[in-house]
Amino acid sequence: MDAEHMGADLENVLFTEEQIQQRLGELAQQVWADYDGKHDDLLLVGVLKGAVMVMADFMRALPGSAAMDWMAVSSYGSGTKSSGVVRILKDLDTDITDKHVLIVEDIIDSGLTLNWIRTNLESRGARSVEICTLLRKPEAAKVEVDTRYVGFDIPPAFVVGYGLDYDEKYRNLRVIGTLAPHVYS
Ligand code: IMP
Repeated sequence: MDAEHMGADLENVLFTEEQIQQRLGELAQQVWADYDGKHDDLLLVGVLKGAVMVMADFMRALPGSAAMDWMAVSSYGSGTKSSGVVRILKDLDTDITDKHVLIVEDIIDSGLTLNWIRTNLESRGARSVEICTLLRKPEAAKVEVDTRYVGFDIPPAFVVGYGLDYDEKYRNLRVIGTLAPHVYS
């Protein structure tokens, strides 16, 4: 799905496909260098469903092999605000004891979800737990989340595309853009 297929539902394009790929490539190089000597114990953990596109492109940009696993947690439902109530809908398949876990996320908004996930994974005996997110809304932060890798900081508007949805729509939009308020008001 391209920007023109959104019609009036798309307010602004924030990032094109090229900009997203370029930034993910830079993050992948940085991650690979930082985990030098630890690549065999590196586990990328994606948070369903928003992170599917980020994970697919980020891990292919890595200059070597890395393992992957997925979690699903409840977050937004059909609204646009985080509740902070987190429930595991699908847990990891992997035992993460002694692993270097890198959580791969689409967006950090209030930070409540990721903060909870990080604490949960740390309690399972991982050797390290770090976070890589494509987008972050610093102004919306309700809790401080120590995030080692950030693609882009964005204003606190509701965005869709590249895995990010509104009510399960627009995940397949190629670009990332702001959703016109008439869609959700
Ligand atoms: P947080 O707990 O407020 O940080 O929200 C985390 C989750 O909410 C993300 O992983 C997304 O699934 C969803 N989310 C937050 N902001 C947006 C947005 O602007 N568009 C679409 N989904 C969002």
